[in-house]
Amino acid sequence: MQDYPYTFGISEGIPTHYDNHITRTLSVMAGQFADQGAYDAALAEGDELLYEVYELKRPEVAGELLHGISIVHPGLVGDEYFMTKGHFHAELETAEVYYCLAGEGMMVMETPEGDWAVEELRPGRVLYVPPRWAHRSVNTSRNQDLVTFFVYPGDAGHDYGTIEAQGFRKLVLQKDGRPQILDNPHWRAPAER
Ligand code: F6R
Ligand code: ZN
Repeated sequence: MQDYPYTFGISEGIPTHYDNHITRTLSVMAGQFADQGAYDAALAEGDELLYEVYELKRPEVAGELLHGISIVHPGLVGDEYFMTKGHFHAELETAEVYYCLAGEGMMVMETPEGDWAVEELRPGRVLYVPPRWAHRSVNTSRNQDLVTFFVYPGDAGHDYGTIEAQGFRKLVLQKDGRPQILDNPHWRAPAER
């Protein structure tokens, strides 16, 4: 890490400079894919790589901006596209910006109150995720990586537990070869929890 202005390039989705390379495989997604049988069968075949994150290290304090590249690989578990775990920011009142560099996908989002939104990600499009909105990237391409640049406040932190417990309200499944947004049958409204 350096406290001096810097630039970096992005070559085939990979930053020319980074500090952390995080990989997430099928096994970290237990309980998240709707079709449990398909998930178990896929895992029996091998713990496949679903997504990767390249981070540039910055102090995790207000005033800093954490940034990097997220790459979700193409694939399906049953009819459900490969996706990230998804999270709320631990500091709920913190936003995030995503800039799509390559591929095609969707960002599935929701608030603690149960409002939801799904926005398409396409190269050249910018997505603003406001404070309070949990977010999950879904790769809806059958053969291309979904590559996004992200930036968010240094003190945001991550709450993965809430989504691990309740899932997202909306699922993105492939139906007739195309992505469709469907209700998650396991999701419970806040009042029912
Ligand atoms: C950071 C952020 C992204 C994600 C990345 C992987 O706040 O939203 O950098 O961390 O897309 O997804 P998760 O963190 O949900 O595994
Ligand atoms: Zn985030």
